[in-house]
Amino acid sequence: MDYLQIKRVNSLNGNIKISGAKNASLPLIAMTILATNSVSIKNLPHVADINTLLKLLSNLGAKCNRGSDTTTVDTTSLTQTKATYDIVKTMRASILVLGPILARFGHCEVSLPGGCAIGQRPIDLHLKALEQMGAKIDIKAGYIEATAPNGLKGCDIIFDKITVTGTANIVMAAALANGNTIITNAAREPEVVQLCEILNASGVKIDGIGTAVLTIHGTSGKLINIDEFSVIPDRIEAGTYLCAGAITRAELTLTNVNASHLGAVLSKLEEMGSTFTITDDTITIHPSDLIKPVKIVTQEYPAFPTDMQAQFLALATQANGTSIIEEKLFENRFMHVSELQRMGADISLNGHVATVNGGTKLSGTDVMATDLRASSALVLAGLVADGTTDVHRIYHLDRGYDSLEVKLQNVGADIQRLKE
Ligand code: EPZ
Repeated sequence: MDYLQIKRVNSLNGNIKISGAKNASLPLIAMTILATNSVSIKNLPHVADINTLLKLLSNLGAKCNRGSDTTTVDTTSLTQTKATYDIVKTMRASILVLGPILARFGHCEVSLPGGCAIGQRPIDLHLKALEQMGAKIDIKAGYIEATAPNGLKGCDIIFDKITVTGTANIVMAAALANGNTIITNAAREPEVVQLCEILNASGVKIDGIGTAVLTIHGTSGKLINIDEFSVIPDRIEAGTYLCAGAITRAELTLTNVNASHLGAVLSKLEEMGSTFTITDDTITIHPSDLIKPVKIVTQEYPAFPTDMQAQFLALATQANGTSIIEEKLFENRFMHVSELQRMGADISLNGHVATVNGGTKLSGTDVMATDLRASSALVLAGLVADGTTDVHRIYHLDRGYDSLEVKLQNVGADIQRLKE
């Protein structure tokens, strides 16, 4: 297995190109199941989760051709409708094929995704909504068996909780449904917005894009032609590198980034002392020497994203004062805390609230990644820790960060990918 070895350097400087968004790419790849044509997708990030989903579609009979900048996905020859455990267990977002496969074929079997390190991750809201649309859902031997022999019917769905992949799944199911579907309490993340925009441009009329109430005008089973598109920049990758600039006090410029997707993150970094120069597709961070403490509560978009909580917690260990960070979306998303404590961070946990007494010097040591965003938090800590920090189990990191160590090396970081 690989690990990352990081040593503190005096300063970083330069540009970092942001890759396409993992969490936009996954539903957009699943969306190709609705297409009559081979779909060209530009700017897919080179990360493990994307490869996993492309492999899943290939296993079902699709033809996927992964290029460096453009990937084509042709599902016209898709014959299988069963997403098996061996793939789904490695990436729970595989559940995103359920809606489109069921809508197109009238039946689908998907292994129950199970939980993951950060929480139980139920999919009850996905299944309840599909049942409301007329699907019959059975759970047998760890598999979801969904059937809708006469197709799905549009209806009014109110999500009890805002669910990102739940919204994406139902939008894709509703795209081929008979009649209109109104989703109330829909997720408004930019990744969901891009999915809706592309479906809308492909002939599935969707009203309310970007709002919490989406109306999807189903095509009554008619597949759609999807023109080439490019995946939006990854706002969480971008936020992670902004935190790298803030924690190392380095002026970094991010390119191929959309600052309008980062409002809450930029606002919190400003509260902590940074300022920014922003253009259409770049952000330059001007960090402050003195990092101010902060209060953060994770919420759904456009509020502060849970996917940035671990990175800000690492940054808060260097703040001049006490920060309070509350995780409201997932029940177990503080596993980076114990690893940061081993590096010397002064953090106390009380339920879903972390209290971080900043100003502590961190010492490099062996640390273990436990989940995707915790991994990046440990890298950020390693950039400012004395000595050497070895981050193990970085297969977690490779799920969602495209060439992280190369991007950091290019701005002067002393970071190497080594073999255990
Ligand atoms: C998406 O996960 C993201 N993943 C996650 O990013 C992100 O943390 C999360 O949204 C929240 O923003 C992808 O887009 C692939 P949810 P998702 O359904 O859709 C509860 C990363 O680091 N819930 O919005 O699985 C759930 O337990 C990953 O890139 C139900 O109760 O999250 C959670 O408390 C991690 N029942 C809350 O809703 C359901 O049926 C939000 O979950 C579905 C969700």
